[in-house]
Amino acid sequence: MNKNFEPHEAQLDQAEFNLLYRNYHEFEILDHLYNAAMDELCMRLNVLNEEFAVMYERSPIHHIESRVKSTRSIVAKLRRKGVPVTLQSARQNINDLAGIRVVCCYIDDVYAVEEMLMRQKDIELVKRQDYIAQPNYNGYRSLHLDMRVPIHLSDRTEHVMVEIQLRSVAMDFWASLEHDLRYKMEEGALPIGLDEEMLSCANEIAAIDIRMQEMYKRITGMKPKEKTDELIREIG
Ligand code: GTP
Ligand code: MG
Repeated sequence: MNKNFEPHEAQLDQAEFNLLYRNYHEFEILDHLYNAAMDELCMRLNVLNEEFAVMYERSPIHHIESRVKSTRSIVAKLRRKGVPVTLQSARQNINDLAGIRVVCCYIDDVYAVEEMLMRQKDIELVKRQDYIAQPNYNGYRSLHLDMRVPIHLSDRTEHVMVEIQLRSVAMDFWASLEHDLRYKMEEGALPIGLDEEMLSCANEIAAIDIRMQEMYKRITGMKPKEKTDELIREIG
């Protein structure tokens, strides 16, 4: 196809922007609200992680990533879901306008962080998807929590939806590379057998994840001298 007949990227973005927002101010209001919700939850997660470091000399959270969904992705997701492409519809139908990814060290940490968050009375859990207990067809593992968090504005309180994805470092390793590989392929053009191979890799990584966790438990259950001896034995 002649490149000149393809809509320019910026024009495409502007067209999508106009579908969702009447003006730039409307975008700013939404962007501020969802960024505030994301920051609020990230702050709470950091407080928990730092408290853990103070009390138990370890951090269950390895790192946190966060983002507010781009206009282009919002429009694409609304179309995929077959719902109206409007701002109101986006707020109603898309739970991950604000998204946080919490990458934990070990599998148990994922559920420990969930438990700590759920103890916070002002957080409302709307949807819980445990892809660790029940992985996707391709082996994707993570715990998804869609929750509403109160955001206190100048004249009102809004309860804003945020999707938190909790996973171990091992699960993140697989999910990041799988996403990267899938992104490089055209939709539906995955080479034959790739899904099966992805599943097999995911299962191997999951087995290693469990072994790492078991080793960690063995080491932390010991006195300092035993720990050193065990490590020396393991290194050989
Ligand atoms: P609803 O929650 O049903 O509204 O839809 P959803 O699109 O949010 O689905 P879901 O929460 O199950 O998963 C959405 C997100 O999880 C995606 O944007 C990815 O970040 C992640 N995810 C789900 N499946 C996979 C997968 O197979 N591979 C990778 N790499 N990520 C996935
Ligand atoms: Mg979801």
